[in-house]
Amino acid sequence: MTADLDGVEAVVLVGGMGSRLRPLTLSVPKPMLPAAGIPVLAHLLSRIRAAGVRHVVLGTSYRAEVFAEHFGDGRCLGLQLDYVTEDEPLGTGGGIRNVAEVLSEPDVLVFNGDVLSGVDLAAVLRTHRDAAAEVTLQLVRVADPRAFGCVPTDSAGRVLAFLEKSDDPPTDLINAGCYVFRREVICSIPAGRPVSVERETFPGLLTAGARLQSHVDGSYWLDLGTPAALVAGSADLVRGIAPSAALPGSPGEALVDPGARVDPAAVLAGGCAIGAGCVIEAGARLTGSLLMDGVRVGADAVLTRSVVAAGARIGDGTVLSDAVIGEGAVVGARCELRDGVRIWPEVVLPDGGVRFSS
Ligand code: GTP
Repeated sequence: MTADLDGVEAVVLVGGMGSRLRPLTLSVPKPMLPAAGIPVLAHLLSRIRAAGVRHVVLGTSYRAEVFAEHFGDGRCLGLQLDYVTEDEPLGTGGGIRNVAEVLSEPDVLVFNGDVLSGVDLAAVLRTHRDAAAEVTLQLVRVADPRAFGCVPTDSAGRVLAFLEKSDDPPTDLINAGCYVFRREVICSIPAGRPVSVERETFPGLLTAGARLQSHVDGSYWLDLGTPAALVAGSADLVRGIAPSAALPGSPGEALVDPGARVDPAAVLAGGCAIGAGCVIEAGARLTGSLLMDGVRVGADAVLTRSVVAAGARIGDGTVLSDAVIGEGAVVGARCELRDGVRIWPEVVLPDGGVRFSS
């Protein structure tokens, strides 16, 4: 461990339902959805490990078993992984409080498990210690802060408030879902009931006069909470725009699992990720799309910024643009699905010109 990261361990919140990503999250919890060939969470864990942190606790709830089945005790990642499962979802604050008993270091890095980020973790920790803060929050600037709750700060970076979405936000800084907590602050969160850090814990700490420090960072950041963000984040990882210490290949236009078969007359561009057992026929053109395992794409199909879940089949000449295709669904030949259309698992759309846009 680097000296900077002495006395720190990490918690990753992975218990959310991921409802904005349905139907992809009906069978796979959001942090386990693939981005550039491996689970979203594996990219985050690789960055935690690369920063020098060894002990990571996953706060699980929805589909908790899937995480341990995949990552085990964490040894394969060079980590010591512990799992603490909520019987009922406890929210972000409740999820952090629920893991307190397995923590022992004075400072705890806490992450939302669905964020791709290039933030320098040692720098966040330095900010926290230099300010002697109770909690330090990474903040990022966004182009349109009206879509988010925002976090105003003073000139010394001290957090002043947590404001709900509004048409006229006073700042473009938003909560990035990466924090450093002093461990005793975690122990002070009420146990055994749902708590939101954003709505209850942080505002309560401010009212009590605690020091909440901001760490503003301009590196890559993307919350993968929606299909459009998942497909964009995966494409950024494939092209080397988003940082990861775990990309299973070299950055480029496409990342193709060795167990996939892509016809030489198919074209893959814009950061496509192609899973194991996929078959892509001649003349197909895929741009910035994410195919999970065992997908078949017919001849001359055109896929743009679309996500196709495991085992789905896309017919010859079909056009998908910003579409989401559920597990095992069959989209017949010459269909056209655009603008965020979502097809549920196992649905069968017949050949011949089904056209949907939302
Ligand atoms: P949506 O339903 O689409 O909003 O997704 P979500 O349920 O994942 O909620 P959100 O994106 O706000 O969650 C942010 C992070 O907190 C994600 O990494 C979630 O996995 C995690 N999270 C949300 N709720 C809980 C919870 O009740 N328990 C735990 N342990 N983690 C949670």
